[in-house]
Amino acid sequence: MNELRRPPTDPAFRADVLAGLAAPIRAIPARWLYDHRGSELFEAITELPEYYLTRTDFALLDRHAGDVARIAGTGDVVVEFGSGSSTKTPLLLRAVAPAAYVPVDISGAFLRQSADALQGLFPSLPIHPVEADFMRPFQLPAAVAMRRKLGFFPGSTIGNMVPGTAVDLLRAMRQTLGVGAFLLIAMDRVKPIETLLAAYDDAQGVTAAFNLNLLHRINRELDGDVPVEAFAHRAIWNDGLSRIEMHLEAMEDVRFEVAGARFEMRRGETIHTENSHKYGPRDARLLLTAGGWTVTDEWTAEGDTFAILLARADPLRFAP
Ligand code: AVJ
Repeated sequence: MNELRRPPTDPAFRADVLAGLAAPIRAIPARWLYDHRGSELFEAITELPEYYLTRTDFALLDRHAGDVARIAGTGDVVVEFGSGSSTKTPLLLRAVAPAAYVPVDISGAFLRQSADALQGLFPSLPIHPVEADFMRPFQLPAAVAMRRKLGFFPGSTIGNMVPGTAVDLLRAMRQTLGVGAFLLIAMDRVKPIETLLAAYDDAQGVTAAFNLNLLHRINRELDGDVPVEAFAHRAIWNDGLSRIEMHLEAMEDVRFEVAGARFEMRRGETIHTENSHKYGPRDARLLLTAGGWTVTDEWTAEGDTFAILLARADPLRFAP
């Protein structure tokens, strides 16, 4: 009926939603939270008083970009995984004065947008955007092949991945950047539960709107009739797995259709929509070590609430 007004459906979105809703423990990958509206809501989250992550990451980078340049050196090629951390990237580029900047993103549209914005700020900096899925090793542009790389992965985005996937990613980054490369990566810390819960269930309900927008998106793009008002946002701390989980909980028994398939949920059942892992100091180092990176430096915010780590891809050695 709405065929003409609906945006074209991403087949991967349809497949993930249908499989995720049919699974015994319902879950939909977190990346689908970020449609246009979801990205706007995430931007709003980063400005909430309770959401300490973005401003802490920014302050740490502001304070220590000079240290990064001193340790990793200037004139390297900065490779940013996921383009569009628009406010943080200039801090690093100003300090490191790289020979070139390579933003990497799976979305060509985001890539061009953020490359254009940065080119405006750094008119003489060679920028080589790469459209790729950085979860796997990929080829860097030939123009930067001979220089040392500094990988940049801000925002504590790695927290979205379960540890096995995070290690796969770190190993892929090592493969892509090469022996001798550095990696500057942000990781959120374990901290008092009340602080974490407030950050993921804010008083203004912006995080709730961000989570519930996934159901609106399903209705819009997959011809769904999910009764969004019957669902509530839940943020819970999973201590065993050291992570905040976001869920959408059915407040009553519900039946709905998505892309022609029927689903039922009982009151109290949930759809798991996101994980945000939190790492203690040793956890963070162990994760990087498992991924093939030697931590050389670590800078933390007041009260050890957040960390940025600098690591190096050393040659592999024989070990007992
Ligand atoms: C973008 C993955 C860093 O996990 O804190 C914010 C996403 N989810 N509020 C995070 C998010 C709910 C965010 N990251």
